[in-house]
Amino acid sequence: MLNGKIDLRSDTITQPDTTMREAMASAVVGDDVLGDDPTVQELEQHTAELLGKEAAMFVPSGTMANQLAIRSLTRPGDAILLDANAHIHCYEAGAPAALAGVQVSLLDGQRGLFTAEQLETALPPRDNHFAPPSLVCIENTHNRGGGSVWPLAEIESVTNTARQHGLALHLDGARLWNAAAASGVSEAGYADHFDTVSVCFSKGLGAPVGSALAGTTNVIAKARFYRKQQGGAMRQVGILAAAAIHALEHNRSRLANDHANCRALANGLAKLPGLEIDAAGTETNMLFIGTGRRDAAALAERLNESGVRLLATGPHTLRAVTNLTVNSEEINQTLTVFGQLN
Ligand SMILES: Cc1ncc(COP(=O)(O)O)c(C=O)c1O
Repeated sequence: MLNGKIDLRSDTITQPDTTMREAMASAVVGDDVLGDDPTVQELEQHTAELLGKEAAMFVPSGTMANQLAIRSLTRPGDAILLDANAHIHCYEAGAPAALAGVQVSLLDGQRGLFTAEQLETALPPRDNHFAPPSLVCIENTHNRGGGSVWPLAEIESVTNTARQHGLALHLDGARLWNAAAASGVSEAGYADHFDTVSVCFSKGLGAPVGSALAGTTNVIAKARFYRKQQGGAMRQVGILAAAAIHALEHNRSRLANDHANCRALANGLAKLPGLEIDAAGTETNMLFIGTGRRDAAALAERLNESGVRLLATGPHTLRAVTNLTVNSEEINQTLTVFGQLN
């Protein structure tokens, strides 16, 4: 039994440390709905610059950032095309249908990545029978794909095809920071191919709350209207923006540690019998662990009793996400705990 829990359920479980809390406490704030919050404005400008976009807007969550993008780039009755395992489709509570009134056309990607040919094949003929496709969404890194990173060449190929068909493009970059850290391609290098990009400060970067949507001044103005309509405009929210600024400054460069820890975990688990591990495909901070015949929820409970927390994401699948609360020694301890399972 370990002293404290090693929490590998998600990179969203982090708590703000003392320096982040101090940055939040000393933030200069104002009513952001009236345009008075200098800390929010600083974060929005900085995020727009990092992503090479004209404008950015602070929002409470990645889900809201994605859904405002969809609403801003489509009309009700349109079709949007995305991978069948996309977060937007699987985990955003039916929002594309409920909030934007669009239907989804799902592509059968590999670890979340689909090809230009798959996109081309999925596009319907121009005919009144079909919902007109208007938007393609890509997720990078891809959560259900196991933290997979889109190679830039694949993004170029898919986005060129989308453009040829007059489609808009949104990047769900909740973990774009991880993609950039793993690939060496800058966030702006990825963002360049998209009309809108969402990013999260509250995942690997360790802020308690907050995401942003970036794009042209026009599209962000439209999204700002929808944010207000959906109740996402906030008042003295510089307190949260200060945490995000602090996270960008202090925690971006350490994402490579999470990736190294995740690789070490994958390589260690791959040596144990009875587990299915894609060690070679472990590119960032996520690892899906096939449990064979063993019940994943029961296994998660036993691991929890031994001080290691993981999520059961399917009947025979566990998910581990390395994050800033877990160091390399704790990865070794996790491997020991797994090794003691029988
Ligand atoms: C790829 C991806 N996009 C979007 C989101 C949504 O973020 P939030 O939980 O802040 O709504 C998540 C959350 O885990 C995610 O993994």
